[in-house]
Amino acid sequence: FADGPLRGRHVVVTSGPTHEPIDPVRYIANRSSGAQGTAIARALVALGAEVTFVSGPASVAPPAGVRLVQVETAAQMMQAVQAALPADAAIFAAAVADWRVASASGSKIKKKAGALPVLEFAENPDILATVSQMGAGRPALVVGFAAETDDVVAHATAKRQRKGCDWILANDVSPATGIMGGTDNAVVLISDAGAEEWPRMAKDAVAERLAQRVADALV
Ligand code: C5P
Repeated sequence: FADGPLRGRHVVVTSGPTHEPIDPVRYIANRSSGAQGTAIARALVALGAEVTFVSGPASVAPPAGVRLVQVETAAQMMQAVQAALPADAAIFAAAVADWRVASASGSKIKKKAGALPVLEFAENPDILATVSQMGAGRPALVVGFAAETDDVVAHATAKRQRKGCDWILANDVSPATGIMGGTDNAVVLISDAGAEEWPRMAKDAVAERLAQRVADALV
């Protein structure tokens, strides 16, 4: 491992989307690329951390120097995170699907004339909330994300309370910002100290700044 302020520290990072199967050949997904989570893992490795990188099916390559755990579904991501603990910090950057198909078919659903399939959904586990509220064995620092389109600080502050995490990195993803799918990000760090607005910067720079803050918090 690289030398640095996070040497000897274990950090779990989730990243990317999840895929929720409908049947063996079809799934429900979202547009997350995994770019911000990957940049965060890379920045933590650069500061010397031992990183377990739990990734859904992302469209960017995973970072070098991590312990890579590739998963498909939210349920598998939850299990992989629990198996990776204990950790000094956990950063949940994945865009986890809120719902899965309640009873995914074991065989390919056939097209039948005059009959449309009806999907029923079940709620997925909330990984951030579960780890934030786990009591014994909880990482000292738990960080979540919030993508909002309005009242960013108010909604993210409420989310931090509801989930029980230490920090929320909130960003405004309303179309006018051009942030969704872009290379820049503009975030607000919500902690018990309040809301700290960071200037607009590249996603890599957000990752480096967050990694430095994690290092400062874990000393
Ligand atoms: O509730 P919402 O999805 O807006 O919260 C976003 C934050 O919660 C992100 O940090 C995301 O990784 C995390 N999350 C999770 N498990 C879920 C849903 C969201 O860890 N099932």
